This record gives sequence, structure tokens and C-alpha cells, in this order.
Amino acid sequence: MKIRGEISLPGDKSISHRAALFSAIRPAESVFENFSGNEDCRSTLSCLRQLGIEHKIVGSTLYLYGKKLSQWQQPGRPLYAGNSGTTTRLLAGLLVHLPFTSTITGDASLSQRPMGRIIDPLTAMGGRITATEGHLPMTFHPTGSLRGIRYPLPVASAQIKSAVLLAGLFADGFTEVIETKISRDHTERMLGLSVREEEGQRIVSVPGGYEVPDISMTIPGDISSAAFFIAAALTLPDSDLTLKNVSLNPTRTAYLEILKKMGASLEIEETQARPEPMGNIRVKSSDLQNVEIPAEMIPNLIDEIPILAVIGTRAVGHFAISHARELRVKESDRIKVMVENLRRTGLHVDEFDDGFAFCGPHHPGNAAISTHGDHRIAMAFTIANMICGGNLEIDDPSCAAVSFPAFYTTLEKITR
Ligand code: S3P
Repeated sequence: MKIRGEISLPGDKSISHRAALFSAIRPAESVFENFSGNEDCRSTLSCLRQLGIEHKIVGSTLYLYGKKLSQWQQPGRPLYAGNSGTTTRLLAGLLVHLPFTSTITGDASLSQRPMGRIIDPLTAMGGRITATEGHLPMTFHPTGSLRGIRYPLPVASAQIKSAVLLAGLFADGFTEVIETKISRDHTERMLGLSVREEEGQRIVSVPGGYEVPDISMTIPGDISSAAFFIAAALTLPDSDLTLKNVSLNPTRTAYLEILKKMGASLEIEETQARPEPMGNIRVKSSDLQNVEIPAEMIPNLIDEIPILAVIGTRAVGHFAISHARELRVKESDRIKVMVENLRRTGLHVDEFDDGFAFCGPHHPGNAAISTHGDHRIAMAFTIANMICGGNLEIDDPSCAAVSFPAFYTTLEKITR
């Protein structure tokens, strides 16, 4: 089995969410080509529709008709964010300002994920939010005007950063978010916010009353989706795959940097620098060696760790992930789920509080894989299954649709 051909990918999930949410507060039509049609981004659109923000989708182009925040409508029922942490946490930064009560709910996985991380800063700004022990459902109550804050991020998280910055758009005074480890920068980039460096810290600031510019654009292909096909092409012999117009945002490319260090044959050609960098990636089968993964790269690699670990099983040497405790609060506990599934394939894996480690190369034996409803686990083990020639049985492959409904059909197109 080999991977050959040329593909384009649906729009990046993080950028698609932001495209919809940011243009929802700009009273005009915005147009986004290559908008992601995945379940998570549909959750964002359906929450916005309940708040009175209409859209239409033609092919993969989104037309969104924004309104001033003061003209948003009270939803008749709770807003349902499905599986989507980005919908929930970014939308929260806007819901705190509304002059009516609104509630966000989600599926079983999202209902277990921590919301205290956004409730704390939004409350410090003057927001009134109730939740049960920091979990959904989360209710936003009307309050007076919010005030800007200076907020050092307690964990490297673009979702927390974005929630605070969005709230800052409508707060009194300046809001500043301070990062020591850099998380993905789509929010500041797309909104054109000011960013400065001070003593090794990165500070993003927004003045209250800042007007969102027209951010209409073509959304680059999702690098986190591309990651699965890149993995297949690297590890299956005689493969040669080109991925067109993929996001090359430098806060998202740590996966490519690590792969290059591992010995991957990757040719990268940037085709656009702004508003979001993108380009073409050509991947060929390669002999790989595991390398050390530096702590500061973890935030920019966080969603790719499951598939990087699958590649690690095919590479020679010690594979170790550490400083990645955040993996425990993703769509599943990705440390526990990766360790459990890799062990089922016969691999000896050590589990730590903030990561896991093993030695490659390893050829997986027959095993039943539990996705725990996590899209990235389903896709990572689908690639693992191709590599080992079909020894794995995956319990819920359909959950891939959370980020990539066309994953299996795209894979079929390039598999020879
Ligand atoms: C995202 C940020 C990351 C990432 C998630 C999408 C975003 O989460 O894991 O898939 O679009 O801002 P955290 O901000 O919680 O690290």
C-alpha cells in the first residue's frame, strides 16, 4: 500500500471558527472561501444563528451577515456547542457582554472539559457566569460594563487568550494577555491586534471599542488534518504526496519542524504570507529516527501529538512526550487513551502525568482500538492500521467528522 497524488484540504478549523465569530460582530457581509464544513465549525454557526446571526454556505464558501453585539438576539433555548471547545470558550468572551441571559451546553466530552480557565478571567473583568464546578452548562448573566485586564495566561492556550481578547473588544480600557509559551496566534493576526515582546514575554493587547476589520479571506487548508496524510506518506513505502495550500502559520508548524529533524523528506513552498501564511507541502516516504521534542514546541504541536506518536512507533529510537499535561483535557484524556491503545498493540509504553514514552520501531499486533469518541484518536489509529496492514479494529471511526468529515474519502483517493 502506498500514498500518491495531490490533494487540497478543507479550511483550517481554528481559523474557520474565528472567521465566523469575529465577522459576527461586524455589521456587514463577510465572505470566507474554503470554510470548514466540519461538525465543530457547524456548531459555531448554529450557535450564532440562535443569536440572530445569519449565514449561507454555497459549496465551501461561507457568507456571514454580522451585526453589532447590541443587536444580537436572545436565544430561545440553550446554545449547543456539541464537541467544540473552541466554540464554547471563544463565544464566552462575547456572551459575557450581552444584556440578556444565555447558556451554553455541549456533548458528554465537552461537559467534562474545564471551563474555570475562562470563567476566572472573564469574572475578573466583571462578567457574571455560573457553572457547576467549572463545567458546562455555563450561564452568562447580564451585568454592567466590563473592564479591561492584564492577564498572564496560566496555561499556554489560544482558547483562553482569545476569550479574554474578545471580551476586551467591548470592555472599558485596555486588555492585555501575556504569554510565556506561545500559543497559536490566529486571533491577534486576524483581528490585527498589537503584539509586543517584553522580557521574554509576548503581550497581545486590545483597546476597548476596537472595531473588527473586514477579515474576508480564503481559509488555508487545515494543517492538523494534513498531519494524518503526511504521516501516511512518510511511513508507507514508495509514497509521494503533495498537499496544496495548507496553513503554514508559524505557530502551527512545529509538527513539520519535528518531522524534518526526524529525517522526513518534506519540500515546503510558501504561496501566501498574509493574512494567514499558506503553501504547498510535498512528502515522500522516509526513514525516520525519533528525536527530542523540546518543551517550548508542545503548545504548537498539541493537536498533532496522537499522530506524531503513531509516526514515532515506526521510527528508530526513544520517543517521548513531556510538558504536555494539557493533553489530558482535550476531547479525551489523550495521554491515557494513546497509552491504552498503543499498549493494546503490544508496545511497552510508560505513562507520566504530563506525557508518555516508548521505543521504536514497533509493528502493531492485532488490537481493538477505543477512540473514546475523539476524532484525532480515530484518524491517528486509522493511519496506524494502514501502516501495519489492517491489524487494528477501531470502535468509532465516524467521530472523525468532528474535524474532518471527508477524511476517509480523501484517504481513499490517495491510497494505491
Ligand atoms: C484551539 C486551541 C487549542 C487546540 C484546539 C483549537 C483554538 O486548544 O487544542 O484544538 O482554535 O484556539 P487550547 O487553547 O485549549 O490549547
